Amino acid sequence: MRLLRLFVCVLPLATLVACDEKLEDLAGPTPNLTTSFASIQRDIFAAPDSSGRPACTTCHVAGGGAAATGLFLNDPGVAHASLVGRESRLKPGETLVIPGDPDNSYLVRKLEGGPNINGLRMPRTTGPFLTEGQMIVIRRWIKDGAANN
Ligand code: HEC
Repeated sequence: MRLLRLFVCVLPLATLVACDEKLEDLAGPTPNLTTSFASIQRDIFAAPDSSGRPACTTCHVAGGGAAATGLFLNDPGVAHASLVGRESRLKPGETLVIPGDPDNSYLVRKLEGGPNINGLRMPRTTGPFLTEGQMIVIRRWIKDGAANN
Protein backbone atom coordinates (compact mmCIF):
# COMPACT_ATOMS: atom_id res chain seq x y z
CA MET A 1 0.00 0.00 0.00
CA ARG A 2 2.83 2.34 0.88
CA LEU A 3 4.57 1.53 -2.42
CA LEU A 4 1.38 2.18 -4.32
CA ARG A 5 0.91 5.54 -2.65
CA LEU A 6 4.49 6.52 -3.45
CA PHE A 7 3.94 5.56 -7.04
CA VAL A 8 0.82 7.68 -7.33
CA CYS A 9 2.67 10.46 -5.60
CA VAL A 10 5.78 10.46 -7.78
CA LEU A 11 4.16 10.17 -11.18
CA PRO A 12 2.91 13.76 -11.52
CA LEU A 13 6.37 15.04 -10.49
CA ALA A 14 4.76 18.33 -9.52
CA THR A 15 5.83 18.95 -5.95
CA LEU A 16 6.62 16.46 -3.25
CA VAL A 17 4.10 17.88 -0.86
CA ALA A 18 1.25 18.00 -3.38
CA CYS A 19 0.33 14.42 -2.66
CA ASP A 20 -0.96 12.41 0.26
CA GLU A 21 2.51 11.44 1.48
CA LYS A 22 4.17 14.14 3.57
CA LEU A 23 7.85 14.84 2.91
CA GLU A 24 8.73 13.98 6.53
CA ASP A 25 7.16 10.54 6.08
CA LEU A 26 8.99 9.94 2.81
CA ALA A 27 12.31 11.03 4.23
CA GLY A 28 12.02 8.39 6.98
CA PRO A 29 15.35 8.10 8.80
CA THR A 30 16.28 11.71 7.87
CA PRO A 31 13.19 13.66 9.02
CA ASN A 32 14.66 17.10 8.24
CA LEU A 33 15.56 16.21 4.66
CA THR A 34 14.40 18.60 1.91
CA THR A 35 15.16 18.81 -1.81
CA SER A 36 17.84 21.53 -1.37
CA PHE A 37 21.49 20.65 -1.83
CA ALA A 38 22.31 22.10 1.61
CA SER A 39 19.93 19.60 3.20
CA ILE A 40 21.13 16.63 1.13
CA GLN A 41 24.74 17.44 2.01
CA ARG A 42 24.00 17.92 5.71
CA ASP A 43 21.45 15.12 6.28
CA ILE A 44 22.70 12.41 3.90
CA PHE A 45 26.33 12.98 2.92
CA ALA A 46 27.71 14.32 6.20
CA ALA A 47 25.54 12.49 8.75
CA PRO A 48 24.66 8.90 9.57
CA ASP A 49 20.94 8.22 9.98
CA SER A 50 18.66 6.19 12.21
CA SER A 51 18.47 3.32 9.71
CA GLY A 52 22.12 2.58 10.57
CA ARG A 53 23.45 3.97 7.28
CA PRO A 54 26.91 5.49 7.77
CA ALA A 55 27.72 9.05 6.66
CA CYS A 56 29.27 9.20 3.20
CA THR A 57 31.97 11.34 4.77
CA THR A 58 33.21 8.29 6.68
CA CYS A 59 35.14 7.70 3.43
CA HIS A 60 34.53 10.66 1.08
CA VAL A 61 36.94 13.16 2.67
CA ALA A 62 40.51 14.10 1.81
CA GLY A 63 42.67 11.29 3.19
CA GLY A 64 39.63 8.98 3.62
CA GLY A 65 39.00 5.54 2.14
CA ALA A 66 37.47 7.04 -1.03
CA ALA A 67 40.12 9.74 -1.55
CA ALA A 68 41.08 8.26 -4.93
CA THR A 69 37.64 9.21 -6.28
CA GLY A 70 38.28 12.92 -5.66
CA LEU A 71 34.68 13.03 -4.46
CA PHE A 72 34.74 14.99 -1.21
CA LEU A 73 31.37 15.39 0.44
CA ASN A 74 32.15 17.06 3.78
CA ASP A 75 32.15 20.73 2.71
CA PRO A 76 28.94 21.87 0.94
CA GLY A 77 30.68 24.01 -1.71
CA VAL A 78 33.32 21.40 -2.45
CA ALA A 79 30.68 18.65 -2.49
CA HIS A 80 28.59 20.47 -5.11
CA ALA A 81 31.61 21.08 -7.33
CA SER A 82 32.72 17.44 -6.84
CA LEU A 83 29.40 16.19 -8.17
CA VAL A 84 27.66 18.47 -10.64
CA GLY A 85 28.87 18.16 -14.22
CA ARG A 86 31.94 16.25 -13.04
CA GLU A 87 33.20 13.09 -14.75
CA SER A 88 33.50 9.84 -12.81
CA ARG A 89 37.09 8.87 -12.10
CA LEU A 90 36.28 5.16 -12.08
CA LYS A 91 34.00 5.08 -15.10
CA PRO A 92 35.23 7.68 -17.59
CA GLY A 93 32.46 8.96 -19.84
CA GLU A 94 29.93 8.99 -16.99
CA THR A 95 28.92 12.25 -15.28
CA LEU A 96 28.19 12.11 -11.54
CA VAL A 97 25.28 14.59 -11.66
CA ILE A 98 23.65 15.73 -14.90
CA PRO A 99 21.28 18.61 -14.06
CA GLY A 100 17.73 17.67 -15.11
CA ASP A 101 18.57 14.01 -15.77
CA PRO A 102 18.53 11.82 -12.63
CA ASP A 103 18.30 8.52 -14.54
CA ASN A 104 21.60 9.09 -16.31
CA SER A 105 23.37 10.70 -13.35
CA TYR A 106 26.06 8.25 -12.21
CA LEU A 107 25.55 9.27 -8.55
CA VAL A 108 21.96 7.96 -8.67
CA ARG A 109 23.02 4.69 -10.27
CA LYS A 110 25.78 4.19 -7.69
CA LEU A 111 23.23 4.75 -4.91
CA GLU A 112 20.62 2.44 -6.47
CA GLY A 113 23.09 -0.30 -7.41
CA GLY A 114 22.91 0.09 -11.19
CA PRO A 115 22.52 -0.19 -14.09
CA ASN A 116 26.05 -0.25 -15.51
CA ILE A 117 28.21 0.82 -12.60
CA ASN A 118 31.86 0.09 -11.92
CA GLY A 119 32.73 -0.72 -8.32
CA LEU A 120 30.06 -1.25 -5.67
CA ARG A 121 26.73 0.22 -4.65
CA MET A 122 27.07 3.19 -2.24
CA PRO A 123 27.48 3.49 0.67
CA ARG A 124 30.24 0.95 0.18
CA THR A 125 28.98 -1.36 2.92
CA THR A 126 26.56 -4.27 3.00
CA GLY A 127 23.76 -1.80 3.76
CA PRO A 128 21.52 -0.27 4.79
CA PHE A 129 21.42 1.74 1.58
CA LEU A 130 19.42 4.92 0.98
CA THR A 131 15.67 4.52 1.40
CA GLU A 132 13.21 4.94 -1.44
CA GLY A 133 12.13 8.29 0.04
CA GLN A 134 15.71 9.57 0.28
CA MET A 135 16.24 8.61 -3.37
CA ILE A 136 13.07 10.47 -4.38
CA VAL A 137 14.49 13.60 -2.75
CA ILE A 138 17.91 13.29 -4.44
CA ARG A 139 16.27 12.56 -7.80
CA ARG A 140 14.00 15.58 -7.37
CA TRP A 141 16.96 17.89 -6.60
CA ILE A 142 18.69 16.71 -9.81
CA LYS A 143 15.48 16.92 -11.87
CA ASP A 144 15.01 20.52 -10.70
CA GLY A 145 18.45 21.50 -12.02
CA ALA A 146 20.90 20.38 -9.29
CA ALA A 147 21.29 23.92 -7.96
CA ASN A 148 23.75 24.79 -5.22
CA ASN A 149 20.82 25.79 -3.03
C1 HEC B 1 32.99 2.74 3.51
C2 HEC B 1 33.49 3.78 2.63
C3 HEC B 1 32.49 4.51 1.76
C4 HEC B 1 31.27 5.04 2.10
C5 HEC B 1 30.61 5.04 3.49
C6 HEC B 1 30.72 5.64 0.91
N1 HEC B 1 31.59 5.47 -0.13
FE1 HEC B 1 31.30 6.13 -2.07
N2 HEC B 1 33.04 5.22 -2.62
C7 HEC B 1 33.91 4.56 -1.78
C8 HEC B 1 35.00 3.98 -2.57
C9 HEC B 1 36.20 3.21 -2.00
C10 HEC B 1 34.71 4.27 -3.94
C11 HEC B 1 35.50 3.80 -5.19
C12 HEC B 1 35.20 2.32 -5.48
C13 HEC B 1 33.77 2.04 -5.90
O1 HEC B 1 33.22 2.80 -6.71
O2 HEC B 1 33.20 1.02 -5.43
C14 HEC B 1 33.48 5.07 -3.93
C15 HEC B 1 32.88 5.59 -5.06
C16 HEC B 1 31.77 6.43 -5.08
C17 HEC B 1 31.22 7.07 -6.25
C18 HEC B 1 31.75 6.94 -7.67
C19 HEC B 1 32.88 7.92 -7.87
C20 HEC B 1 33.47 7.84 -9.27
O3 HEC B 1 34.26 8.74 -9.60
O4 HEC B 1 33.15 6.90 -10.03
C21 HEC B 1 30.16 7.81 -5.84
C22 HEC B 1 29.25 8.67 -6.71
C23 HEC B 1 30.02 7.63 -4.41
N3 HEC B 1 31.04 6.79 -3.97
C24 HEC B 1 29.07 8.23 -3.62
C25 HEC B 1 28.87 7.92 -2.27
C26 HEC B 1 27.79 8.45 -1.47
C27 HEC B 1 26.78 9.48 -1.95
C28 HEC B 1 27.87 7.87 -0.24
C29 HEC B 1 26.93 8.01 0.93
C30 HEC B 1 25.53 7.68 0.68
C31 HEC B 1 29.05 7.01 -0.25
N4 HEC B 1 29.62 7.06 -1.49
C32 HEC B 1 29.50 6.30 0.85
C33 HEC B 1 33.80 4.45 -0.41
C34 HEC B 1 32.69 4.80 0.33
